[in-house]
Amino acid sequence: MSNTSLPDHYEADGWENPLRSALDKRLPRIAGPSGMVIFGVTGDLAKKKLLPAIYDLANRGLLPAGFSLVGFGRRDWSKEDFEEYIRSAVEAGARTEFRENVWLRLAEGMHFVQGNFDDDEAFDRLADTLQRIDESGATSGNWAFYLSVPPNFFSDVCHQLQRSGMAEAKGKSWRRVIVEKPFGHDQESARELNEIINSVFPERSVFRIDHYLGKETVQNILALRFANQLFDPLWNSHYVDHVQITMAEDIGLGGRAGYYDGIGAARDVIQNHLIQLLALVAMEEPVDFTPSQLQSEKIKVLRATRPVEPFSKTTARGQYASGWQGSELVKGLREEEGFDPESKTETYAACTLEINSRRWAGVPFYLRTGKRLGRRVTEIALVFKDAPHQPFAAGTRDTQGQNVVVIRVQPDEGMLMRFGSKVPGSAMEVRDVNMDFSYSEAFTEESPEAYERLILDALLDEASLFPTNEEVELSWQILDPILRFWADHGEPEDYPAGTWGPHSADRMLERVGRSWRRP
Ligand code: BG6
Repeated sequence: MSNTSLPDHYEADGWENPLRSALDKRLPRIAGPSGMVIFGVTGDLAKKKLLPAIYDLANRGLLPAGFSLVGFGRRDWSKEDFEEYIRSAVEAGARTEFRENVWLRLAEGMHFVQGNFDDDEAFDRLADTLQRIDESGATSGNWAFYLSVPPNFFSDVCHQLQRSGMAEAKGKSWRRVIVEKPFGHDQESARELNEIINSVFPERSVFRIDHYLGKETVQNILALRFANQLFDPLWNSHYVDHVQITMAEDIGLGGRAGYYDGIGAARDVIQNHLIQLLALVAMEEPVDFTPSQLQSEKIKVLRATRPVEPFSKTTARGQYASGWQGSELVKGLREEEGFDPESKTETYAACTLEINSRRWAGVPFYLRTGKRLGRRVTEIALVFKDAPHQPFAAGTRDTQGQNVVVIRVQPDEGMLMRFGSKVPGSAMEVRDVNMDFSYSEAFTEESPEAYERLILDALLDEASLFPTNEEVELSWQILDPILRFWADHGEPEDYPAGTWGPHSADRMLERVGRSWRRP
C-alpha cells in the first residue's frame, strides 16, 4: 500500500476514485505494488537513463515499498553482481542524492536471470522468479516488461513472454510492455512490429517510449497553448509565417555505430521526437488530457501532414566531417570507431512539412536535427508575418526582424518572445528585444528527468504521454517519401563539426526567402 490513503487496487482494476481526481494535483502520484523486468539491462540506455531514473523515483518515494527490479541478460551474473552494476549506474547517473537506506531497500527487490532471447528454459526461469516474487506479496502480480533492445528482438521477447505465460495477467493484476525506439525503419516495418506486439499485448497495455514527451518543456506546450488566451488567436496561418523545429546536438556518434550507422538522423529523431513536437504545436485543443482525447487530436494533425516536394529543394542532409568543436578537434563520422569508412549515414537532416488544415494551410514547418552542430539546443520557433502596414520612416526599422515566439525545450528551458521596441532617444527607431521566461528563475521546483516521468506513468497506467501504434505509423508515412528519395538520389553533404550543418540546408530556406535561426 502506498503512503496515500487510497485503496491498493486503485491502479490495478482501473477503478476511478473521484476523490483521487480532485486531489490529484496535491497528491504525489505513487505507483501501486508492482515490478519491472528490463530486457537489455546491460545496454547504454538502461545504464545511463533507466536505472538512475528508477533509483530517483525510489528516492522521491514514488515507488511502492516492495518494488522489484528484474534484469534479464546474457551475462553470468549473481544477484550481487547485478546490484553492483546498478549501484555504479545509479551513482553515476542519478539526479537525486545517493541515500544508503533507499538503495538498500531497492536492492532487496533486485534479481537477475541469465539467458538468451531464444532460450525457453531461461524464460521459464524468469517466469518462476516473477512468481516467487509475487508470492512474497510485494508485487501483486503486476509487472511491466521494458524492451530496451533492438527491434529485431521484439518478436522473440514477446513470443517468449506469451509462451511462458508471463504476458497474461491473472485476476486483477496487470501486465504491460514498454517499448523503446527505433520503432521500425519505415511504415511497413513499424506496422509489422505493431502486429507482433499487439498479438501478445492489447494496445492499452503497450507503452511506446518517446522520451521527448516526458520532458517538462514539451508538456508545457499544452499548458502554454490551452491555459492561456494570449497565444491562440495568433496561432494560425493568418499570423504565423512559418515554424522552425530544431534539435541540435554538439555530441558526435563515437561508441554508437552499432545503432546509428544505416539509421541516420531522420529515422533517429525526426520520425519520433520532432514529429511529436510538431503534433503538439499544431494540434487542436483536446477535450481533456486523457490518452484517447490527446492522441486523437495528434492523430488528426499527423493525418493532415505531408512532406513538401520537390525534395531536392525542400530537404537537406549532411554528415559531419572533422572540425573544431569549441577548442577540441574532433573526428568526422567516417573516422569514428565502428563506422563504415564509406558510410552514407546522415548525421544532419532537414525537411519541409505542411499541414493541410484550416489552421495551418500555407505555413511551412521546417524540421532540422544534427549531431556535432554549434551547440546543444532544442527549440520550436513560431516566426510571425510582418505587420501589414508600418507607419515608420524608411531606415528606422532596419534592424528589426520578424516577431518570434520560441519555446526552448532545452537547455535553458523556457520561452522567449522577440519583438520590436523603440530605441530610447529622440528619434523613432525600432530594434528587436527579447522577453524571456526561464524555468529556473520562475520555479523553485526541479523538473523530473523524462524517463522518471514516463516510467512512473507506465506503472500508473497513464498513457497520455505515449504515442499509439497509429501515431508511429503515421509518422513513418510522413517521412518515408523523403527517405526513399534520399536512398535514390546522391549522398549526404559533408559539414565541418562545430558548424550549423551543410550548405544545402541554408539554401533550402534561402530559396524561399527565409533563413534558419541561430539559436
Ligand atoms: C535519442 C536519440 O532518442 O535522443 C539520440 O537516439 C539523441 O541520438 C537523444 O542523442 C537526445 O536526447 P536528449 O534528451 O539529450 O535531447
